[in-house]
Amino acid sequence: MMNVGIIGAGRIGKVHGESIMRYVKGATVKAIADPFMNDETKAWANGLGIAEVYTDYHKILEDKDIEAVLICSSTDTHSAISLEAIAAGKYIFCEKPIDHDVFKILEVKKALEKAGVKYQVGFNRRFDHNFKGARAAVEAGKIGTLDVLKICSRDPGAPPVEYVKVSGGIFLDMTIHDFDMVRFMSGDEVDEVFAYGAVRVDPAIGEAGDIDTAVISMKLQSGAIAVIDNSREASYGYDQRVEAFGRKGQVAVSNDTESTAVISDADGVHAEKPLYFFLQRYMQAYVDEVSEFIDCIVNDKEVTVGIDCGLQSVLIGLAAKRSLAENRPVKIAEIASEYGL
Ligand SMILES: NC(=O)c1ccc[n+]([C@@H]2O[C@H](COP(=O)([O-])OP(=O)(O)OC[C@H]3O[C@@H](n4cnc5c(N)ncnc54)[C@H](O)[C@@H]3O)[C@@H](O)[C@H]2O)c1
Repeated sequence: MMNVGIIGAGRIGKVHGESIMRYVKGATVKAIADPFMNDETKAWANGLGIAEVYTDYHKILEDKDIEAVLICSSTDTHSAISLEAIAAGKYIFCEKPIDHDVFKILEVKKALEKAGVKYQVGFNRRFDHNFKGARAAVEAGKIGTLDVLKICSRDPGAPPVEYVKVSGGIFLDMTIHDFDMVRFMSGDEVDEVFAYGAVRVDPAIGEAGDIDTAVISMKLQSGAIAVIDNSREASYGYDQRVEAFGRKGQVAVSNDTESTAVISDADGVHAEKPLYFFLQRYMQAYVDEVSEFIDCIVNDKEVTVGIDCGLQSVLIGLAAKRSLAENRPVKIAEIASEYGL
């Protein structure tokens, strides 16, 4: 049984804690750390059978019996904790994004090349059963050459403005998952980005310097076109759909619902709303991504969602930010060259 430590006991740290303790085979959470550890979180951890609860994550890094760590703390801590965990010889699963600063991601990449430990980034949507099915169809050539990829990604409600202020903006916080989905679904790299953005949901988001609604068009290196549409608030729940259109056909993924019951009556035909948010929609994907991480360690396999996925998605996000600010198409190569890439 592999001992794992979790750094950060907020929303996503708790998701991973529950999924490892309940569903992931071959691993157990030995310790969890959070500087704002409280009685409620301690009781939650103890209830799951997590024996060690700390305020200082260094206790986890110093524990020789812990082989792997999951970095689930706030984004601004990910790259620094990654470097310390690499130096401590741990295998690492790091939540997205690794950092907003490309130089800091490159520092982590350099340290990984020397240390040779496995490092997985938390792009959970790649493990969603629907998206995996669509990717398998594209990869198998069932739709022929990809021409257009459409990703719809809308949250059920906007986060608090205090969160928006430190989030790095919608592109690096929310759309980053969709940028990764473009790379995953197409098996291609993004060449150029053009972004439109608007404040349609909450003026306070605009006052905080961000947008809440966006459409991002992308040229891929193959010549295919991708488009993402985002909103921070969809009145009917979490709207997460993908359609890939190619020379030979099309593959589409619809939202998961509580049930597939469809009621027809005099007023119309009624179906369930999408599952409410990421905790409902992606719970199995969270289990599957951590299961794959553990499997990669135990069976010495290459991780499929590594540091380069974390890096590319941030480069695309920065290109989108610049496109919006300067109202022009931006090449990924323009951003990359500023970091010596
Ligand atoms: N993959 C996904 O679907 C997904 C979903 C939600 C959040 N996230 C990412 O996970 C990270 C955490 O998000 P969240 O929603 O759980 O936030 P959160 O605010 O609920 O939790 C973050 C926790 O980290 C703790 N923390 C801060 N500094 C720390 C440190 N030095 N050591 C240990 N703990 C520390 C905070 O006290 C807090 O409890 C963010 O980077 C976010 O982007 C990913």
